[in-house]
Amino acid sequence: MALILGLESSCDDTAAALVTSDRRILAQAIVGQNEAHRPFGGVVPEIAARAHVEILPDLIRRVLGEAGKSIDDVNAIAATAGPGLIGGVMVALLAGKGLALGTGKPLVAVNHLEGHALSPRLVDPDLGFPYLLLLVSGGHCQLLEVAGVGEYRRLATTIDDAAGEAFDKAAKLLGLPYPGGPAIERLAAEGDPKAVPLPRPLVGSGEPHFSFAGLKSAVQRAVQCNAYRPADIAASFQQAVVDCLVDRTRLALGRSDAPALVVAGGVAANRAIREALQKLAASEGRQFSVPPAWLCTDNAAMIAWAGAERFTRGLTDPLDAPARARWPL
Ligand code: KG4
Ligand code: ZN
Repeated sequence: MALILGLESSCDDTAAALVTSDRRILAQAIVGQNEAHRPFGGVVPEIAARAHVEILPDLIRRVLGEAGKSIDDVNAIAATAGPGLIGGVMVALLAGKGLALGTGKPLVAVNHLEGHALSPRLVDPDLGFPYLLLLVSGGHCQLLEVAGVGEYRRLATTIDDAAGEAFDKAAKLLGLPYPGGPAIERLAAEGDPKAVPLPRPLVGSGEPHFSFAGLKSAVQRAVQCNAYRPADIAASFQQAVVDCLVDRTRLALGRSDAPALVVAGGVAANRAIREALQKLAASEGRQFSVPPAWLCTDNAAMIAWAGAERFTRGLTDPLDAPARARWPL
């Protein structure tokens, strides 16, 4: 059994967690910065990076204290090394390197997307490889075949916006606060998903990719024409995203023998999306796995877990591992 300290600071959440290789989360702490960025309608990289510097050391002390552990009990230090806002990425990675250097423990430089991709295995011991992964976050919208740790084959990606980006942009058009996903989901609960005719870009296409830019423009027109209730626009938008995700995932399932469908990333916190994909998996005769909502949005438990998956396979990194703004899986 290995004990891994995970550190995350690639966007606007600062987080630390202690996770064991046998799937126990001993402690975790997360501090979001929504309030700091809200006046700007999106994440301001410089504000985010400075906040990570101020917050992260306390979070590391807190999780060690809560778990009753010292840094000497840890077997490896896993830190997100990208992709993300580079100033933020450097905070957790440099903290991880400092701890690794000071203690002599190995460093695991984790790809944040791999953190999302492997997160379902932290809470679902029955989920083996391979699986088809729908990875839907603020920056990514991809279908990947996950054959093993570090073995990813991308089947589809977005040709314009990511799914979370579409939620955030639609929310902004509706005057809702950042982050847009949870705000749209709340408003959609009071609306009629059939009230506003919105496009489903690429639905029915034989090309496996995603597209959301046209949907955002249609939301903009629906807002501007003043003919619809905001709740109806939110509900219709959410339904359009659901339909796009289900259609594209169905196509990919038809091209994959993977026995399980898995959804991860911040947008997978959305109940309508979780339920629609669960139904799809059932109708296609596949096992289904989605992490609890708190594990879908950014956190350090998934980084510690990806660290555990790598560390137990002998995959560690040198102390000059680079911080990367871009880092495809
Ligand atoms: O994975 P994540 O926390 O950060 C990235 O790695 O990007 O994903 C953040 C994205 C944001 O775009 C946010 O609006 C979206 O996930 N999101 C949601 C929900 N919760 C977060 N989208 C739809 N419904 C939600 N409940
Ligand atoms: Zn993320």
